[in-house]
Parts: sequence; structure tokens; C-alpha cells
Amino acid sequence: MATADALSRIGLAGLAVMGQNLALNIAEKGFPISVYNRTTSKVDETVDRADREGHLPLFGQYNPKDFVLSIQRPRSVIILVKAGAPVDQTIAGLSQYMEPGDTIIDGGNEWYENTERRISDASSKGLLYLGMGVSGGEDGARHGPSLMPGGSHRAYLNIKDILEKVAAQVEDGPCVTYIGEGGSGNFVKMIHNGIEYGDMQLISEAYDVLKNAGGLSNSELADIFADWNRGELESFLIEITADIFQVKDFESGHGELVDKILDKTGMKGTGKWTVQQAAELSIAAPTIAASLDSRYLSGLKDEREAAAEIFKGQGFKEEINNVGVVDKKRLIDDVRQALYASKICSYAQGMNLLRAKSVEKGWNLNLGELARIWKGGCIIRAVFLDRIKKAYQRNPALANLLVDPEFAREMVQRQAAWRRVVGLAIQKGISVPGMSASLQYFDTYRRARLPANLVQAQRDYFGAHTYERIDRPGSYHTEWSKLARGATV
Ligand SMILES: *[C@@H]1O[C@H](CO)[C@@H](O)[C@H](O)[C@H]1NC(C)=O
Repeated sequence: MATADALSRIGLAGLAVMGQNLALNIAEKGFPISVYNRTTSKVDETVDRADREGHLPLFGQYNPKDFVLSIQRPRSVIILVKAGAPVDQTIAGLSQYMEPGDTIIDGGNEWYENTERRISDASSKGLLYLGMGVSGGEDGARHGPSLMPGGSHRAYLNIKDILEKVAAQVEDGPCVTYIGEGGSGNFVKMIHNGIEYGDMQLISEAYDVLKNAGGLSNSELADIFADWNRGELESFLIEITADIFQVKDFESGHGELVDKILDKTGMKGTGKWTVQQAAELSIAAPTIAASLDSRYLSGLKDEREAAAEIFKGQGFKEEINNVGVVDKKRLIDDVRQALYASKICSYAQGMNLLRAKSVEKGWNLNLGELARIWKGGCIIRAVFLDRIKKAYQRNPALANLLVDPEFAREMVQRQAAWRRVVGLAIQKGISVPGMSASLQYFDTYRRARLPANLVQAQRDYFGAHTYERIDRPGSYHTEWSKLARGATV
């Protein structure tokens, strides 16, 4: 085990896999780091890995006091523990040894308001605080995550050099930026995860349509996704999807593993928070909401199996597997376009959530910069994020990503294919809640006139809520029943 004579540059507490990997990443970039975990075996494990992975400058500490005192001032301590109460406990354990000017950095998926509470608790002790979103999974943490630090700007400046080396690197810089004040770092990470829910749902729908309306095999799907990953859809999630279809099932010895996986999706809460925030902010996020609902429905496996039997008993004929004559080549190309257009709508929703929250909280979020730091390291990293970045750079006040001239053109170019895919799926009874939510979002947003005039008339009829007119200013109320009935009497 290495022992530190000199003080470490930074510390990290909480040595589950993410914590270990981030600590090793920091050490590998040349920043001496102290690590701590209550469970001493976790400390030993991490120190061991640091030795094996290249004698990295990582120093194990076995109690909170030694840990804190082993870090140079002003101290920066990253904590990576389960969100909620464990964060408060860890802060309580460490902060008693910390001094004014030192910083606590929470790298977990924390609810942003908890971070805001902790910022004010910390500041009463003279401590600085950052709530930092970390995306990229275990591999990202080890080799370059996308980092979303929000809170004290001074605290950020103390570790800017570290974060910029540790983050994923893309052609226009490291995937980290100071997000903004308060809990903005956690909020941005939460929206990132909401977008991730949408992406995964949309990809699963593309798979469903290709498999069940197109009759494609897993090996064909592997080739298609690999091919898509060389074009406008190039992204981490498309890439891993191509891999997944190739993995054989070694357990049973035949077929591919993907077909043996129980169709129930797990979740940890950031998607639900995103949808709750959408409702709070009065921002439409139907694709993200559809992906959350799909996870809920997927969880009802027993009910769905029973329902399938009941509807079969009532004469429902499954169209799935009844492929008939499909033009595979055209279907594949249509699905690619539908997936792309649907994703753009989903990102537009996420960006609008960020902007609305930024206005509410005065965070001054830079949407172009956020798209930039998602270009590498994180789960939603994708080539087209560069174009999203440019759209917001061209026009920071862009009302909606869809009306950026480049994206608007792409939506128009893809809409025919998109409608064909959603139409085919509906016809075949293949649920595509994400793709159709995106299409409905597009069709609602782009229409200059909606049937909301009728809803307004109804509201005014039964509740005297008044309405505005299209041809003159002011608000109006009409005695609807008198006029309607009076006319016919
Ligand atoms: C240490 O490890 C345990 C078990 O892996 C974990 O529950 C705990 O939160 C960790 N963190 C700290 C700071 O002790």
C-alpha cells in the first residue's frame, strides 16, 4: 500500500464501483487522491486496484479524520454514496473535520432541492458545495465521464483543472462546464437521464417494429444497428444495441441472450422526477412521459400475460409474426428516419425543460454548452448533439429545437417515413408510444391553429372562464346556453 507524505490534492469518499472508478481516473490523470469508505475492505480493494492499474497516486484512509486531514487546503472532497440520507450522514461525518473554504462535492444522482438545502447548511459552516451530475456508467467514471457540476463557482474553480482532465475529451474540449448556481448540476443530470429514458424507449420501439412487422432476425438487427451507427444516428446507445443483438445465450446454449431477458424494465427515479418537473413547469414532454409509462406497464408482466389470454379468448388476432409481404429495405430505412425524427422531438422537450427551469431559478443555463458536454462520456452521447449545440449557438433564444432551420428541414424530410412507421405499427397493434408521442408533439407544435378554440368555448360555457378572440383584443364571456337554446326555441 502506498503511503502519502505529501498531502493529496483531492479526496473521494464512497467506494462502490462508481466511486472507485472515478478515484482511479483522477489518480491516473496525475492528481494525488485520498480515498475513504467506512467499510475498510472497500479501501483496500481500491488501493489494490490503484497498484495493479499502474501504481497510481491513490492513498487509502481508514477514518474520516485522517481522510480529511490528508487533503491539501482548500480541501475538495467528492462523495459518491446513495442519494438521500446516506449523503447527509457522510457529510455529517466528514464536515466536522473540514474548515471554512473547503468544499463538498456530491457526485450522486441527487434530487436538486436536497443539494440546495445542503448548500445553505454548508455555507453556515463556511463550507462550499457542489452538486455534480456524473454520467457514463462505470466505464465512463474510469475513463472519462460527462460532468455536470453546479453550486459554488469558487468551489468549481478550485478543481476545474482536475475535472477538465478527468472528463471525456471531444474535439471541442472536455465534457465538463460550470453549469450554474444551486442544484442546477443535479437538475441538468436529471434531464439528461429523462432524455436517456426517451432514447432507450425509442430504440426499443424501432427494434419491435423491425422484428415484429419486418420479421428481422437478431443477426440482421445487429447489422442494421451497426450500420445506423455509421450515420446520423451514431451514438453510444445505438452502438451498444448493435452489440447486444450479437450476444449468444450461453445459459441455454441456443439463440441470443436478448430473447431470454424478462421484459420488465427497472428504474431508479430520475425519469419520474423529470416527468414530475415537466408537469410543475407546464412544459410538454410527452416522449419522456411515454417512456416512463412504458416502464410502468412493462412492470405488469403477470397482468399483461393474463390480458393477452383474455383478448385472445375474445377473438383478438395478433398481427405480430404475420409479416406477409414487407419491403424490408424500405421498412429499415423508414424506421431509421422515424427514430431520428422522434429523438429530435425528445431532445427538444428536454431542452425546453432546462430552459424553463433556468428561467424559474435564474440559473442562466447555456443550452448549447450543455449539448456540448453531452457529446462525450455520457450515456446519451451522440454525434447529432454537435448539431444541437450549433443550433443553440446560432440562436440562444431558439424557442424550440424543431424550428431551428436545419432541424426543421430534417423534420420535413423525414415526416413521410415517420408517419409510415407509426401508421404501420398502429395497424399491426405494435405499441409505439414514444414514436407516436414524438410525432404528435411535432404535429401539435407545428400547427398554427388547434382545436383549443372548442375547449375554450366549453370552459366558458360551463365555468364562465372567458375566452379571447382571434380578430379583436379583450376577454369575452358568452351566455352560450341562452344563445344556443334561444336560437332553436
Ligand atoms: C462504504 O461502503 C458501503 C458498502 O459498500 C456503503 O454502504 C457506504 O455507503 C460506503 N460509503 C462510505 C462513505 O462509507
